Amino acid sequence: MAVLSTRLSRWSLPMFACALVNLLAAQGLILAGITWPAQPVSAPGTLAAVHLLAIGWLLLLMLGALFQFVPVITSRPLVSQSMAFAALIALEIGLLGMVGGFFGIGAGSAPLAMALPAGGAAVFLGVMIACWNIGVPLLRARPLSLPGRMVLCGLAFLLLTVTLGLSFALALTAPAPERYLAPLLGGVGDHALAGLGGWFTLTAMGVSYKLLPMFMLAPEDRGIAGDAVHILATVGFALAVGAGLARLWSAAEPLAVAEFTGYAAITLAVIIYLWDIVRIYRTRKRTVIEAHNRTAVAAFGFLGLGAALAIGSLVAGRLGAGAPVIVFLIVFGWLGGLGLTQLYKIIPFLTWLQRYGSSLGRGAVPRVQDLVRERRSYPWFALYFLAVLLGAASVLSGHAAGFRPCVALVTVATFGIAIEYLRAWRAHYAQLRHIEAAAPPLRPNQRG
Ligand code: HEM
Repeated sequence: MAVLSTRLSRWSLPMFACALVNLLAAQGLILAGITWPAQPVSAPGTLAAVHLLAIGWLLLLMLGALFQFVPVITSRPLVSQSMAFAALIALEIGLLGMVGGFFGIGAGSAPLAMALPAGGAAVFLGVMIACWNIGVPLLRARPLSLPGRMVLCGLAFLLLTVTLGLSFALALTAPAPERYLAPLLGGVGDHALAGLGGWFTLTAMGVSYKLLPMFMLAPEDRGIAGDAVHILATVGFALAVGAGLARLWSAAEPLAVAEFTGYAAITLAVIIYLWDIVRIYRTRKRTVIEAHNRTAVAAFGFLGLGAALAIGSLVAGRLGAGAPVIVFLIVFGWLGGLGLTQLYKIIPFLTWLQRYGSSLGRGAVPRVQDLVRERRSYPWFALYFLAVLLGAASVLSGHAAGFRPCVALVTVATFGIAIEYLRAWRAHYAQLRHIEAAAPPLRPNQRG
């Protein structure tokens, strides 16, 4: 497998650790009652939590995964390992500034509020570094595989998202550019769609097109279905976001049509993608599905649920009102859920690669699966997904008071899952002798 011939991404595991801390911090803000639904969507606490989740959790998670897998997709190394470290530092420092800035605006403190654009600028820098590190091998790869093309398009949306975010930050805090940038503030929905859709969803789809077939031994060539998902999703998000932004300045009818066409294309892309994912599971050669791919089924379900709710709200003319629950389902159910489930394979895999990657063929080595105890993880994943579902249901049914207890359960489950990661990682040190004694000798092609 190509992963073996690839160097270990040195900063991916530290990035995942930081990402999990940020996720728990965001859950802490929700539990403290200073975010939606206890507070307005535009409250400083909500904005801080949203960005702890978007940048601190999902962006670090995605970049950590891409730093390892882009060299696999492209058969080319990253520009440099140190750039991954620089991106991590810039993103974490920037995020801290942004969180301080949101609370500064809320408290009416002008100096603290300036931390928002300053932090946003550091995040922008971190994203540029990461895009360079990942983008160069992607642009040089010939031919570029479907996952690679999807990641490349995702990166363009990421740049658009952070550019819009930085413009908002300037419009909210800096007097001079405010006059020119103020109309942009109407485009918060487009900023969210570019980030959660164009960047995260498109990239997660691309990465899953590599990871699922790789770990389930299913055909990697997705044929016309894969191309349709890529093109429809890319064009759909571009149309919806582009026309949505243009409508801030013009009421021209064709822009509304373009925006609606974009939503239709995204819907079609999601339907084809979910159908194709079912095909991957059905045509796999590996009979036993591992825990990370069993539990990922729930995340795919949340993508379908979030998309269905978005379409329903759009048709009913209530997209604005429904947006917070849709964002919650997409962030916690689809993207966060997929991230948590896939980390359950990626962390042991990187730990294994670190320890045994260079000694393959030179004696007995345990399997990646020997670093985890799958049965122990299922209750945590079940609790996580169930609590996310109940949290969304409580708000949708008008019982918003039930939301925080559900998030408390989500937090407990996140802790449980994080401890399982830690155990897999520590197996590298603590249980090594036990694992090595228990593991049957393997031939190099028997990992998994
Ligand atoms: C992957 C990156 C990002 C994603 C997915 C994202 C997502 C979002 C979402 C969903 C909202 C709406 C939140 C709400 O209404 O409660 C929002 C608002 C906002 N974002 Fe981001 N964001 C990202 C990056 C950034 C960056 C780098 C900045 C720079 C400072 C930024 C600045 C803002 C600001 C200032 C608002 C509020 C605008 C207003 O209240 O008018 N975002 N973002």
